[in-house]
Amino acid sequence: MSTVPALSVKGLRSGYGRGGDIVCGIDLEQRPETILAVVGPNGSGKSTFVKTLAGLVPVRAGSIEVTGSNVTALSPAQRTAAGIAYVPQEGNVFRSMTVGENLKLATEFVRARAGAGLAQQSLILELFPEIANRRRLLAGNLSGGQRQMLAFACALLSNPEVLLLDEPSAGLSPKFVVEIMQTVLTTRKAGVTIVLVEQNVSAALAIADEVAVLVAGTVARHCPVAALADGELERLFLGRAA
Ligand SMILES: Nc1ncnc2c1ncn2[C@@H]1O[C@H](COP(=O)(O)OP(=O)(O)OP(=O)(O)O)[C@@H](O)[C@H]1O
Ligand SMILES: [Mg+2]
Repeated sequence: MSTVPALSVKGLRSGYGRGGDIVCGIDLEQRPETILAVVGPNGSGKSTFVKTLAGLVPVRAGSIEVTGSNVTALSPAQRTAAGIAYVPQEGNVFRSMTVGENLKLATEFVRARAGAGLAQQSLILELFPEIANRRRLLAGNLSGGQRQMLAFACALLSNPEVLLLDEPSAGLSPKFVVEIMQTVLTTRKAGVTIVLVEQNVSAALAIADEVAVLVAGTVARHCPVAALADGELERLFLGRAA
């Protein structure tokens, strides 16, 4: 078995413009084909952290490695080619285009990566039957859950090593929350390593292998989900020592 982490983050610092650091020195290693739930209070830097991994917020210090290769200096497009895929919380599909057009456009962007492209499409659509049956529908006419599935499918077209999901369950009805979490599990079983940022902590922990609790831009706790003590999360969210 490979011992190279799928994702390795060391001393990572990032922020916006001339403002202070939002990500304030994060160290994390994630084993391949695991789900890491990233949780924490509002404004603790979860989205900024995954945007930094995706290359959308500049790194100020530290490093990011994907399956052993250093991607810290790479552009977002180069990181996609290196195996990182990112699904933002909002605005993650083109609503005025059909499902099929969204998938096609996503394919256009990922030609550089081995295993990416049209051949990958049929494989992905098997994972998302609800999307496969609606290829002529405008993405704007999909339900919230289906739109998330489409965003997911577009991201998987690049055949990523590491998939970054920012609150995929936000705004969804409970039925779709269950469905989207099942899809995350299926994706992991297909060999993808997943960083799952979630406000819906219980839904995320139900499927995650490990959890990282972000508080004020630092990792306050990183452990297997089963190792969390009763009440520990609540204490961390409220900023009290365990
Ligand atoms: N584009 C931006 N420019 C400047 N500051 C920003 C920007 N985006 C976020 N921030 C600030 O960075 C901090 C962390 O925000 P971030 O969105 O990463 O937190 P979060 O943990 O994802 O929060 P939430 O749970 O509400 O999604 C906040 O103080 C926020 O105001
Ligand atoms: Mg966020």
